[in-house]
Amino acid sequence: MRIAVNTGGGDAPGLNAVIRAVTLGAIRRGWEVLGIRRGYDGILSPEPGGIIELTEERVRGITHLGGTMLGTTNRGNPLAIEDGRDRGMEIVKGIHDLGCDGLIAIGGDGSLTIAAELQKRGLNVIGVPKTIDNDLAATTVTFGFHTAVQTATDAIGRLHSTAEAHRRVMVVEVMGRDAGWIGLFAGLGGTADVILIPEIPFDFDRVCEAIEERYDDGPEFAIVVVSEGARPIGGEAQVVEEASPGRPRYGGIADFVAKQITERTGHETRSLVLGHIQRGGEPIAYDKVLALRFGSAAVELAARGDWGCMVALDPPDINAVPLAEATAHLKLVALDSDIVQTARNLGVSFGD
Ligand code: F6P
Repeated sequence: MRIAVNTGGGDAPGLNAVIRAVTLGAIRRGWEVLGIRRGYDGILSPEPGGIIELTEERVRGITHLGGTMLGTTNRGNPLAIEDGRDRGMEIVKGIHDLGCDGLIAIGGDGSLTIAAELQKRGLNVIGVPKTIDNDLAATTVTFGFHTAVQTATDAIGRLHSTAEAHRRVMVVEVMGRDAGWIGLFAGLGGTADVILIPEIPFDFDRVCEAIEERYDDGPEFAIVVVSEGARPIGGEAQVVEEASPGRPRYGGIADFVAKQITERTGHETRSLVLGHIQRGGEPIAYDKVLALRFGSAAVELAARGDWGCMVALDPPDINAVPLAEATAHLKLVALDSDIVQTARNLGVSFGD
């Protein structure tokens, strides 16, 4: 057998660990592995080094590295049918012309939707779910999420001392387009006073009440964590630009919230955006192991000929779910979940 592997969408800590597990698992079976660079660019815009053979030597010492040795892209959609640039069949033919029996596609909702369509068009595909946002319903968790949470929690922890020293409100923007998982976990882990997530539109009066109560109780500083996709009741999320059709790029909500807090309470308020620092760097051990398990399970599926599936964590097992179902539902924070209740019991305000 010969298989291809690629990484698509925004990067997440653990991508290299998946690539290593796929490569070594395949080589142990006597297969060959080809890496496609930058999503499908290695096929669609051929250039030297666009396709690389993955050998034991090539994947040595990469488990702990952030980013992806294959490169990635979250710009453009090779199946952009609406503007006549649908290049799906070029991808299918290109991978077949390389002599590959199938593709292991590591990606988030966008990349896995493309992968599912390529499967329909005759390419054998196995998906591996990736996103720091942890918003794919078909898997309990995606690798990269807990690393992002750790990074954000550490950063929030550092803000406490400076917020207290200056008697300020600090508003921290974390990633999370539709789902507030990073905000909720990092807000709890970093003991934020207010957590604003996309699932719970907030009221500025409630946010400011919570801050005033805290100042009145003694600690004259407060930490607010806000997901990039959060929005006030009746308002819109803050969009920076349209990254690609139908996919807005969010950003600026922390600044917006900070200005409102200053205006309404008079407390000095500063904002910061953690941004891509949440996606970079070494995966924590949990994510390394999950990524290695996903890569290994993907090879097992290929060996059994179970194409058209995505590997998924269903603790304690790694299972396979049909690719078509993989991106069918977003996993949002359930408002009646124990983790939301935990935050409420701790006195955290969601601004509702
Ligand atoms: O989808 C993952 C994610 O990290 C989102 O939380 C964020 O909105 C997006 O990627 C940002 O992507 P980029 O700035 O790389 O286009």
